[in-house]
Amino acid sequence: MAAHSPLYGAKMSCLMQGIFLLQKNVSVLANYVQTVLCYSNIIKGNVIPKTNNETEDFTMKRKMVSALLCATMVAGMVVVPAATAQAADKKLIGVTMPTKDLQRWNQDGDNMKKELEAAGYEVDLQYASNDVSTQVSQLENQVANGCDLLVVASIDGSSLGEPLKQAKEKGIPVISYDRLLMNSDAVTYYATFDNYKVGQKQGEYLVDALDLDNQDGPFNIELFTGDPGDNNCNFFFGGAMDVLQKYIDDGKLVVKSGQTEFEQVATANWDSAKAQDRMDTIIAGNYSDGTNLDAVLCSNDSTALGVENALAASYTGEYPIITGQDCDTPNVKNLVAGKQAMSVFKDTRALASAVVKMVDSIMKGEEPEVNDTKSYDNGTGVIPTYLCDPVVVTTDNYKEILIDSGYYTEDQIK
Ligand code: BGC
Repeated sequence: MAAHSPLYGAKMSCLMQGIFLLQKNVSVLANYVQTVLCYSNIIKGNVIPKTNNETEDFTMKRKMVSALLCATMVAGMVVVPAATAQAADKKLIGVTMPTKDLQRWNQDGDNMKKELEAAGYEVDLQYASNDVSTQVSQLENQVANGCDLLVVASIDGSSLGEPLKQAKEKGIPVISYDRLLMNSDAVTYYATFDNYKVGQKQGEYLVDALDLDNQDGPFNIELFTGDPGDNNCNFFFGGAMDVLQKYIDDGKLVVKSGQTEFEQVATANWDSAKAQDRMDTIIAGNYSDGTNLDAVLCSNDSTALGVENALAASYTGEYPIITGQDCDTPNVKNLVAGKQAMSVFKDTRALASAVVKMVDSIMKGEEPEVNDTKSYDNGTGVIPTYLCDPVVVTTDNYKEILIDSGYYTEDQIK
């Protein structure tokens, strides 16, 4: 992460203000103690009035000391509860993430927590080890524990109906994070990257790399997408196939395995090992006789990694062009090593900032900014959405986009 991000600047300015206030208060307190000590000497008779005027003056000063002492007690009673009330007033935001297994969700969770805390919120951040029942109970706890708003990145978008219903009954707003929560009218807003564009960019990359508009081919391609319970897959796979289908129909692209339907190319839990198993089988059945595999559409980096491992284990032909998404570090290393052609970068810092802005607007009773009010229908209606922009990363621009921007250090991708 950037050493001097805007967040860092904001933190430093808070710190400086804190130090300034502390200094100011310490000097006020010192003056005050000096005055009280001086006057208490008068009261205790350590200083004796000599004239009538001095006696009057001392009587007045004695009254002032009493008043100051009373003020101290009253201030003590008022200031301490006010400070406690301020802490109790902090809004609590529940954030649930699907798993710690994939790098991106760790970054999402960290960024969300940091930014929400910097904006003055308390945060309850939970990871559910890709286990739906764990995520259900985490959400139920957050509702029961008085969270003021929930941000949910689901494992299976359709399986959180019950806790979401409880949230709605308590009037707790729910923001769908990255993945759309389906079939629930409790969902208030959605923030994600433009998922259709992610797939479209992967498809367009393959068209350009194989020069499909000028070459006859045919080129062999295999297809991999993610978990069927993740609504994003429909957009990733749909976006890519909207670009590639016509070349398959023209016979320029051939899927030798014959596996082209969504159900056939899906990968449960986006699991690399499952993608690897399926690729092993595809290689054994279609490419073990020296037939070249020219391209593999992979919806994300974890599936791409499985495919790359299978190729390393048993494929002997010319190395194919492979797509991905997320710019996870093992995949960026593979990119540099020539084992993956591209990945789509989704800057989790940008998504976290957009969601924190949304949270802040909702908590202040204002309308959050959205930029899409037609694409994401969760079965109960269109959910107003804020879409961040995905960016294609290759060996040509990875340094600028990933390292110069402070997302990774050079060491992380060595
Ligand atoms: C996210 C991807 C991620 C995948 C697997 C999707 O919902 O949008 O960025 O690669 O889940 O975790």
